[in-house]
Order: sequence, then C-alpha cells, then structure tokens
Amino acid sequence: MRIGFIGAGKVAQAITKGLIDSGITAAENIIASSPKQDHLLLTQISKLGVGTTFNNKTVVKESDVVVVCTKPNVVSRVLTEFSSDVSKSHLIISVALGVTTKTMEKALPKNTRVVRVMPNTPALVRMSASVYCMGSSVIETDAETVSKLLTSFGYCEEISESLIDIATGLSGSGPAYVFTAIQSLADGAVKMGMPRDQALRLAAYAVMGSAKLVLESGQHPDSLKDDVCSPAGCTIYAMHLLEKRGFRAALIDAVEVATLRTKELGDFKV
Ligand SMILES: NC(=O)c1ccc[n+]([C@@H]2O[C@H](COP(=O)([O-])OP(=O)(O)OC[C@H]3O[C@@H](n4cnc5c(N)ncnc54)[C@H](OP(=O)(O)O)[C@@H]3O)[C@@H](O)[C@H]2O)c1
Repeated sequence: MRIGFIGAGKVAQAITKGLIDSGITAAENIIASSPKQDHLLLTQISKLGVGTTFNNKTVVKESDVVVVCTKPNVVSRVLTEFSSDVSKSHLIISVALGVTTKTMEKALPKNTRVVRVMPNTPALVRMSASVYCMGSSVIETDAETVSKLLTSFGYCEEISESLIDIATGLSGSGPAYVFTAIQSLADGAVKMGMPRDQALRLAAYAVMGSAKLVLESGQHPDSLKDDVCSPAGCTIYAMHLLEKRGFRAALIDAVEVATLRTKELGDFKV
C-alpha cells in the first residue's frame, strides 16, 4: 500500500513512525508534502526514510491512501487543489480537527471515498487512542484498511461522526491534560525532596499502570480508587483535598470546552 501525507508536521510524523515501526508498510512506499517555505518539517520526516515533495498533487498521484495532516483551516483549500488528481482507487483520510466527512466530500469529486480520523500523539510510541468514521461512499474493505493502518500505531475504534468532536476533546487533546498531570505530580515529589528524573519516571509509570488496570481489570475507576484509600490513610487525605479543589469538575470542564471549541473551529472553517 502506497501512503501519502499532505503536511509533514507532528501528526504526520507520529503516524509515519508508527506505520514504519510496525512494518505495515516500508518507508519507500510513503511520501509526504509540505509547502516550500517549510524545509524543516520535510527534513525531519525524510529522516524516517520516506520520500518528500513540495507538490501535494505528486503525493496524490503516487499514493493509494492519502492522509491529510494539515491544520483544519487549510484542509478545504488543499482538497480542492488536488481534487482533479483523485480517482475511485483513492482513499482520502483527514485527521483535521472539526473537518466533517461532508466538507471533505464537497471539495472532492462525487463518490470519493473519505474517512475522518482523530488520532493522538502517543502514536509516536505506538500507543495512540484513535477513532474514525466513514464517509458516505466508502467500500466494504475501507473500514478494514483504516483499522489496520490505525492499529499499527495503537488502539482504534469506529464511532459515529456525531461523537467525533467529543473524542477530539477527550482522547485527541487528552495527552496534554495527562502530560500536565504527570509534570505536576512530579513537581509535588520534587517539592518534598525527590530528584526530578526519578519523580517524572514514577509519575509516568503510575499513570500508565493505572490506565492499564482500568482497561484490564474491568473494574469501575472509583472502585479501584477505593482500593488505594485505606481508612485514615494518606491517599484519602489527598483525595479529600483534590475534591475540595474541584479536580473532577476541572477535568469534566476541560473535555467540555475542548469539544465545544472543536465544533466552533469546524463551523468556522465550513
Ligand atoms: N497535535 C495533535 O495532538 C493532534 C491530534 C489529532 C489530530 N490533530 C490534527 O492533525 C492536523 C495536523 O496537526 P499537527 O499538530 O501535525 O500540525 P503541524 O505540526 O502544524 O503540521 C501541519 C503541517 O501541514 C503543513 N501545511 C500547511 N499548509 C499546507 C498546504 N497547503 N499543503 C500541504 N501542507 C501544508 C504544514 O506546513 P507549514 O508548517 O509550512 O504550515 C505542516 O507541515 C491538524 O488538523 C490537527 O487538528 C492534531
């Protein structure tokens, strides 16, 4: 499968690395484009062994699957630019926040097979949490192709397009919330006298292990939390403080505003 990336930034690089590391396709079957002014991103992605070009149309001509990895505000322009090079054999995937399958279909020839995907940056270490929804003209094997590509750099599931903005505020933006939590937990330990690198390591493993326990035990997160809170122990004291400071409400609000902002950006662009 020949895979092309329009845009060579953080997400294109994360996905490319995942695809190559998993062996799903060889680097020589991948090509990426970026505007002329930006040599740096193309230089970075070319270090993974993939081909590069300044011409988006070349990417489309040389690919079976085209992944649009530009910022949302340029997606429509980019799709229109290469629209005349798209044929029935192409599968066009967009990872852009807020850009609907309908918007993609409008900018491309009738019956173009399009898919909207929301991955996240842990794709770099093949631990992405991705979701995808299919456009109206996909063929039977497209879901399988997309799932195979996304699974090569982490977990994925198909969802209804009505839920994809919520997934953006949850798992798309989620790594930023979690990185901040890890850094802050480590700061607490540093404040109490632990060396920084050790504190970061322990905080990151605590987050990773807790996530694995939620997924593998099938237990409710509150029940797992209760297991850590012994009567009159240190954890229940810390939990009381977090509740008083609005820890849960802050996270709920964060997902809400990120979801609403995603919808706003999508509407703006359409
Ligand atoms: N970052 C995340 O965590 C995340 C997660 C999920 C989805 N997304 C989505 O992924 C997309 C890319 O995000 P990113 O963080 O990878 O952005 P990024 O690092 O800024 O990369 C965007 C790339 O698109 C290029 N580009 C701009 N205009 C172009 C054009 N006309 N033709 C071809 N390439 C063009 C940019 O080049 P220049 O630098 O020259 O403009 C750059 O290479 C966004 O739509 C975002 O919503 C991001």
